[in-house]
Amino acid sequence: MKNPEKTETKASFAREHDMTVGEIGAANLRIQCRGINVYYGEKHAIHNVSLDIGRNEVIALIGPSGCGKSTFLRCLNRMNDTIVGCRVSGEITLDGQNIYDSNLDVVPLRAQVGMVFQKPNPFPKSIFENVAYGPRIHGLVASKAELEEIVEGSLRRAGLWDEVKDYLLHPGTGLSGGQQQRLCIARTIAVNPEVILMDEPCSALDPIATAKIEQLIDELRNHYTIAIVTHSMQQAARVSQRTAYFHLGKLIEVGDTAQIFTNPKHQLTEDYITGRFG
Ligand SMILES: Nc1ncnc2c1ncn2[C@@H]1O[C@H](COP(=O)(O)OP(=O)(O)O)[C@@H](O)[C@H]1O
Ligand SMILES: [Mg+2]
Repeated sequence: MKNPEKTETKASFAREHDMTVGEIGAANLRIQCRGINVYYGEKHAIHNVSLDIGRNEVIALIGPSGCGKSTFLRCLNRMNDTIVGCRVSGEITLDGQNIYDSNLDVVPLRAQVGMVFQKPNPFPKSIFENVAYGPRIHGLVASKAELEEIVEGSLRRAGLWDEVKDYLLHPGTGLSGGQQQRLCIARTIAVNPEVILMDEPCSALDPIATAKIEQLIDELRNHYTIAIVTHSMQQAARVSQRTAYFHLGKLIEVGDTAQIFTNPKHQLTEDYITGRFG
């Protein structure tokens, strides 16, 4: 049985202390989302979400299946543009620039705001080519030596170099699942992103491969802003500094990860983290 008084207290607290933006000081602000709505045809999938994301932080997006985590994540690099019938309104700025500006080229945007998916998806090409492809098409390299340097640097930063340095011409698809996911991270890093979006990046991996990716995420935070969708509350608690809880397309609460998991301010958040639903 829920305690109605507690629900009331929490809800009124939530109204008094707007917890659904998580504002960040200007110096650390990286991404600012204001009044984001997303529709798939008639379906209203994201309702008026405003959220700040900071420099060098990992923010976890959590919530029950279907609550809009992936949809919201895809707003941040305009991947929803690729879905027929999907419409996004509101404003998102990256370092002060409106990413939905009609003059903005989405190709460099998607390099700046890279994405790693649930299922590792290396190209059916060599390990080297998987990483070299992006810098080449984005015109980031002037010579073969420079390209080799970027490939090595990206694989090192993704924690994969030592495992693959003698097999660079072998197919990327021949690697283990965890290695493939680190290869996809290296591919993202190779085009100098500022932000990396990860949508349940470990859900196809075993616990050891998952632990490696989690450790990597912690290291990557020194260089990039990371937004990660995860269905694992343990993972959110391990890798993120802030956590945003979504419910039925709404952002219910955002705050320091420790606070969200130990002292949520909203009843819905509490119900989810204590396993009452989800
Ligand atoms: N391509 C799509 N077309 C229509 N509806 C979609 C599409 N993708 C997601 N949805 C709907 O939008 C809602 C949010 O989905 P999603 O963002 O995938 O949630 P989550 O990632 O939290 O599980 C769900 O109701 C889902 O059915
Ligand atoms: Mg999803």
